[in-house]
Amino acid sequence: MEKYVIHGGRPLHGSVEISGAKNAAVAIIPAAIMVRGVCRLENLPEISDTDTLLHTLTYMGAKVNMINRSTVELDCTHVQMDTLPEDMWVRTRKIRASYYLLGAMLGRFGRARTTMPGGCNFGVRPIDQHIKGLTALGADIRLNGGFIIAEAKDGRLKGGTVYLDKVSVGATINIMIAAATAEGRTVIENVAREPHIVDLANFLNSMGADVRGAGTDVIKIRGVKQLHGGTYTLIPDQIEAGTYMTAVAAAGGAVKIANVIPKHLECISTKLREMNVEVEEGDDYVLVRRDGPLHAVNLKTKPYPGFPTDMQPQMTAVLCCAPGVSVVTEGVWNNGRFKYVGELKKMGAQIEVEDQSAFLQGVDHLTGAVVRSCDLRAGAAMVIAGLSAQGVTTVEDIVYIERGYQDVVGKFRALGADIRCVDEPEEPADPADISAG
Ligand code: UD1
Repeated sequence: MEKYVIHGGRPLHGSVEISGAKNAAVAIIPAAIMVRGVCRLENLPEISDTDTLLHTLTYMGAKVNMINRSTVELDCTHVQMDTLPEDMWVRTRKIRASYYLLGAMLGRFGRARTTMPGGCNFGVRPIDQHIKGLTALGADIRLNGGFIIAEAKDGRLKGGTVYLDKVSVGATINIMIAAATAEGRTVIENVAREPHIVDLANFLNSMGADVRGAGTDVIKIRGVKQLHGGTYTLIPDQIEAGTYMTAVAAAGGAVKIANVIPKHLECISTKLREMNVEVEEGDDYVLVRRDGPLHAVNLKTKPYPGFPTDMQPQMTAVLCCAPGVSVVTEGVWNNGRFKYVGELKKMGAQIEVEDQSAFLQGVDHLTGAVVRSCDLRAGAAMVIAGLSAQGVTTVEDIVYIERGYQDVVGKFRALGADIRCVDEPEEPADPADISAG
C-alpha cells in the first residue's frame, strides 16, 4: 500500500508549474463523445481520474492517441454505447464525473446507460437537478440496478428551459453537454459559474457548438446538428494552485506558482493576505511568501466566485497554527465536509465541529502522526499539515490524492520539501487474531 512519508518543518522555496484543471478535464473528456472528428486536448492533467475516463472512451470505441504527457488526440467518430465491460464500470463508477457520460451519450445517441456516480465521499451527493434538467430536454430517465437509463423521446433531445433549484456545477455541466446538440434553444437559469463551466463552454464552442453566457447565472444554448473536431487547451487548475498557495502559508517560504489565471485565485489570495501571507499577482503566476506569524480568520465556502469548498480542508490545515480563534464554515455541502478534522486532531490541532462550522484554536505547532486521506482535498490537507508539522507524518490512502493532483511528490520535492512515496506491504494479520476470530 503506497503512502507519503513527510519530514515536516522545511520552508518551501522555488517555482511550481500548475497542471491543467481536473474538473475541466473530467467534463471535457466525456463531452468529446459528442465530437465527430479528431479532438486535440492540450494541458490535460496527468491524474488517475483523466486516465479512467480515457480508458472508458477507449472501450466505447474511441481512438485515444497520447501525443505527450499533457496532450491527447481523441477520435470519437465511431464510439458506441453498451460496450463497457463490467470491470470498467466498476472503475468508472468510482469517479464522480462519470455522470457526464449521461449528458454526452444522450446528446450523441439519444439514449444513455451509465452508473450511479461515486467520487469523493463527503456525504449525500444527489443528482436530482441533473435529472430535472435532462428531463426538461425531453429525456425519460429511470434507475435500474445501480444504472441510470435515459432515452430521448423521438431519439433526439429538444431544447427547453430549466431553472436549477440548487446551484450545481455537475448539473450545469451535464445539461450544457446534452443541450449542445439538442434540437432548438435551451436556457439554463441559476447555473454555477466556476471557471471550469466557462472552460467547457469554450471547448464546446470551439467544436462548433453555440453556448453563450457561461460565467453568468444564465446559459443559453442553440443546439447544432453535430460537433466537429478541433484543438482545445484546458485552463490551469484553480484548486491545485490554491493547494500550493496554502502549503506555502503553512510551511513558510516563498514560491512562484506558475501557469495560473490569477483572477481565478482572487478569493484565495484575499483570504491568505488577511492571514498575513504575501500574495503578489503577475500575468500568469502568483508569488506567495510567508515568514511572519499567521493571523486567525473566519471563512465560509460558497459557489464561485465565493471561497471554493474544494479549498476548505487545505485552509483548515493552515489555520491550525494561526494564533487565536478561526471559524471555517461549509456553505456548499450540507454535511459540513469535516470528516478529516479527526486526522488533524491526531497531529495536535484543536478543532471542534458544530453543524456546518469548524472552530479552531490555533496551536503553536502540529506534530507528525499517521493520518489518512478521507477524500481528495482532505488528503491534500494532510500533506499540507505534514509539511508544516514537527516530526514525521505518514499519509495513508493516497489513492484519493492521486485522483486529482499530478506528481504531488515531485512538485513538493522540487520546492525543498522532504516528502517520499513509499510502498509498504500490508501488515500480515496477527495469527492470534485469526485463531480468536
Ligand atoms: C463539483 C466538484 C466538487 C466540488 C463541487 C462544488 C467535479 C467533478 N466535482 O461536484 O469537487 O466540491 O462541484 O464546487 O467537478 N446538489 C443537489 N442536487 C443535484 C446536484 C447537487 O442538491 O442534483 C447539491 C449537492 O448536494 C451540494 C451542492 O448541490 O450540496 C453542490 O453540488 P455540485 O455543485 O453539483 O457538486 P458536484 O458537481 O458533484
